[in-house]
Amino acid sequence: MEKTDHNYEGVDSWKTIILLYNSALKEVGTKLEILNDEFQHVHQYNPIEHIKSRIKTPESIVKKLKKRGYESTIENMVRYVNDIAGIRIICSFTSDIYRIADMLAKQSDIRVYSIKDYIKNPKDSGYKSYHMIVSVPIFLSDRSVDTKVEIQIRTVAMDFWASLEHKINYKYEGVVPEHIKRELFECAEMVSDLDAKMMSLNEEIKEADDDVTDLSPFIVP
Ligand code: GTP
Ligand code: MG
Repeated sequence: MEKTDHNYEGVDSWKTIILLYNSALKEVGTKLEILNDEFQHVHQYNPIEHIKSRIKTPESIVKKLKKRGYESTIENMVRYVNDIAGIRIICSFTSDIYRIADMLAKQSDIRVYSIKDYIKNPKDSGYKSYHMIVSVPIFLSDRSVDTKVEIQIRTVAMDFWASLEHKINYKYEGVVPEHIKRELFECAEMVSDLDAKMMSLNEEIKEADDDVTDLSPFIVP
């Protein structure tokens, strides 16, 4: 294949950039659908509840660059803003999160830039989620360009918490009253307990299913 452009040299137009990020969302989205379908086929179960993806608006890209003290140029944008293309994967169980992350990271065309495991190390607010910055090659007519995608993987319960917390932060413009922060933190602990209980219940059900399967060859119809 022709050259792979890791530094986006020569990618100078806004339209090309957006085309690349949109394509990266499609590539990663398809990878996830395939993994989910294969899981359904092999294990009769879907680890992914649903997927949301979005391209960051030009306003928020400019805002982020400004906040970090960078000029609003295309070069700075591709270098310093890692979440222009973002995918959020919502799973049923915490174990699914690590399974999906591992399966993606092992794919030969995916390059993992960074991982932040806010499940093992939640934020002070109580925020939990598994974040990866990866890149995927996008094949254009004359070259391929490794394009970054921010992947957030969380359970339904973690997502429920994060949406409410985001809404509250937005409403109070970041200055949230102490008692609300405290209650949100308590909710985050409840989310962790719920996730742990749901996962162990599911494990128990799976074991019961496996026992039934193991016995089936011996059952004479
Ligand atoms: P930005 O937060 O995007 O500036 O990047 P960062 O370098 O701090 O990365 P991090 O992985 O911590 O956060 C990336 C994204 O995760 C954010 O843009 C949010 O979408 C989400 N996120 C991180 N922390 C929180 C949080 O405390 N609450 C909520 N609701 N979302 C969060
Ligand atoms: Mg972000």
